Amino acid sequence: SLKNDFKENIHSNGSRQQLPQTIIIGVRKGGTRALLEMLSLHPNIAAAESEVHFFDWEDHYGNGLQWYMNQMPFSYPRQITVEKTPAYFTSPKVPERVYNMNESIRLLLILRDPSERVLSDYTQVFYNHVQKHKPYPSIEQVLIKDGELNVDYKAINRSLYYIHMENWLKYFPLGHIHIVDGDKLIKDPFPEIEKVERFLRLSPQINASNFYFNKTKGFYCLRDSGRERCLHESKGRAHPQIDSRLLDKLHEYFHEPNRKFFELVGRTFDWH
Ligand code: A3P
Repeated sequence: SLKNDFKENIHSNGSRQQLPQTIIIGVRKGGTRALLEMLSLHPNIAAAESEVHFFDWEDHYGNGLQWYMNQMPFSYPRQITVEKTPAYFTSPKVPERVYNMNESIRLLLILRDPSERVLSDYTQVFYNHVQKHKPYPSIEQVLIKDGELNVDYKAINRSLYYIHMENWLKYFPLGHIHIVDGDKLIKDPFPEIEKVERFLRLSPQINASNFYFNKTKGFYCLRDSGRERCLHESKGRAHPQIDSRLLDKLHEYFHEPNRKFFELVGRTFDWH
C-alpha cells in the first residue's frame, strides 16, 4: 500500500517524523489550543505547533501523506505525535480521509456549550476583522434575520454537534473518539487531562501542580519545570453582551440538537 512507500525522515539524534497517532479534530473554539498545550506537558507527547489543515484543504490533501508526515515534529519512538486542526470536526470529507490513513487512530474532540461556542466563534471572526481594519457586523446583526434566529449563520451550524458527530461515527467506533468537556477544562483542567492520558494509554505524568489559576487572565495557566506561562491573549476573550431574550432563543434552539448529541454519544453534558 501507499503507507509502505514512506521515506522516513530520521535525525542524527535518533528522532524522526511520524504520522500522528492521535488528532485533535475540533471543535473550533472548544479549547483546542488549551488541550494541545496541556497535553504537551507530557514528555511522551510530540505536538505539531500550527494547525496543519491536511484533511480539509484540497491543495494540502492533494500533496499526499508524505507531505503530511513532513509537517510533523521530530519525535522519539516512545512518543505519540499529535496535531490539532479544529476545522476537521465540521468538514464532511475528513472522517473518511482520516480512516483511509489509519482506521484504528484515536481521536480527541473537545466540546463546550454550543451557545457559548457561537459567541466565541463570533468574537474570533470579529477580532480577525478588527486586526485587518475591516468592519464586521454586530452580534445581533449576525444572529437575527427577519426578527428570528438566523439559523443559516455558520457559527450556529458548527455548534450542531450531532450532525458532525454522525459523520465521524460512520467511520470510527465511539470508543475511539474521546470527548473532552471544554467547560470543565476551563474550570478545572487537571481531571480532564488525566482522562486524556488514560485514553491515550500514556503513563500518568501530568500533575495538578502543572496548573495554577491566574487571576489576571481569569484562566488556568501552565507550570512546566518551574516555568509559568498562560495561553496567548487571543485565548480567553470577553464575549459580547447579548440581550437575554436572544440568549434564551439560542439556548432553546440548541435544546433538541443537544439531546440528539447526548443520545448519540451515550453521555450528557452540562449545557444550557
Ligand atoms: P474564548 O476566547 O472565547 O474564551 P480554541 O483554542 O479551540 O480556539 O479555543 C479557545 C477557547 O479556549 C477560549 O475561548 C477559552 O474559553 C478556552 N480555554 C480553555 N482553557 C483555557 C485556558 N487555560 N486559557 C485560555 N483559554 C482557555
